Amino acid sequence: MNEKIKSIFNKTYNYNPKRVYFSPGRVNIIGGHTDYNGGFVLPFCIDLGISAAVSKRKDRIINVYSANLPKRGIISFSLDHLEYKKSRNFANYVSGMLYELNARKFDIKFGFDLAISGNLPRGGGLSSSAALLVLIAKIASDLNNLHLDGLKMALISKTVENKYIGVSCGIMDQFVIANGIKGKAIYLNSSNYDYEYVSVDTKNFNMVLINSNETRKLTESKYNVRQKETADALKILQKHLDITYLCDLSIDDFKNNIKFINNKTLKKRVEHVVYENHRVALAKTALEHNDFETLGKLLVEAHMSARNLYEISSAKLDQLVKIALSCGSLGSKMIGGGFGGSTLNIVKATELKTFISNFSIEYKRIYHSDPIITIVKPTMGVSEIK
Ligand code: GLA
Repeated sequence: MNEKIKSIFNKTYNYNPKRVYFSPGRVNIIGGHTDYNGGFVLPFCIDLGISAAVSKRKDRIINVYSANLPKRGIISFSLDHLEYKKSRNFANYVSGMLYELNARKFDIKFGFDLAISGNLPRGGGLSSSAALLVLIAKIASDLNNLHLDGLKMALISKTVENKYIGVSCGIMDQFVIANGIKGKAIYLNSSNYDYEYVSVDTKNFNMVLINSNETRKLTESKYNVRQKETADALKILQKHLDITYLCDLSIDDFKNNIKFINNKTLKKRVEHVVYENHRVALAKTALEHNDFETLGKLLVEAHMSARNLYEISSAKLDQLVKIALSCGSLGSKMIGGGFGGSTLNIVKATELKTFISNFSIEYKRIYHSDPIITIVKPTMGVSEIK
């Protein structure tokens, strides 16, 4: 991986890069759409992600090349012109990060040459955009001695996604990518950024991703609509209750106060968020006790809630969950923003082979192609590869 990205850089810029980085994608075990409602999440970094090679320049030019989009060639812009430009395509994540660092008065004097190469499927629900933003935050910090810590990198990346790119996402993806460590998931309280690492037993159990291959972009999906619906529901409840976030509601609070919301859709959204938040705490305990049977059941409940109450699933995701459960998975759910992307499946190590073979047969029968199956393990967050 290291040598490959160095050679891509060399072929692009005709000299060797100074530094090499890796920024991972992420999987969230449970806690769907709780992060922008002040709730808990349980994500981990995976070993698919973006490799990068970079060298600082002596002028103010930024050059960006992606081996995934070779036809675009090198995208260039100056540190003095960092405003959003549609034509800049994915490089808006680079200019957006630099724009935000400038706005926060970080002194970025020199540009850089950058080559990246990723193996995260686009729209696979594995957070390629957060991986790219946190990568640029880390590179800018290292090249300019900004000493940004994990939380700072995550918060700045989230601002870029919210304001510059236009997705009203929460902090989960950026936070785990900036702070992830090997072998652990992060139990994060998104209302105050308190977090704990939780070990994941990947010896006896496998975390299996299945890509629906239904690509969607968060900006085009109903993600922002869901964010707004929950914000509207919160406003109604705040007239009656002293709460800052929907996730401040216990299940009893929910039962006693949901009467204040008349709109049926908003009621469903709140119900999902409150019960999902509760499930995250139960899932953390299950994970700590290696109780993957309970964890699996919670995953299925979370999927059903995402489908019926939050209405962010798709026919294909539902089908993938159904097939997985019939093939012996302990639990299966859609992950990420929804409307496509991947499912996460928990499979006993002793049953992995049978699961994959049975799943593949059934998938092929229905979709006439082979499924895209990846086994993932919690890995380190964004880092320089020395
Ligand atoms: C996307 C967002 C996250 C989170 C998830 C849903 O990945 O970027 O902030 O809201 O969707 O849980």
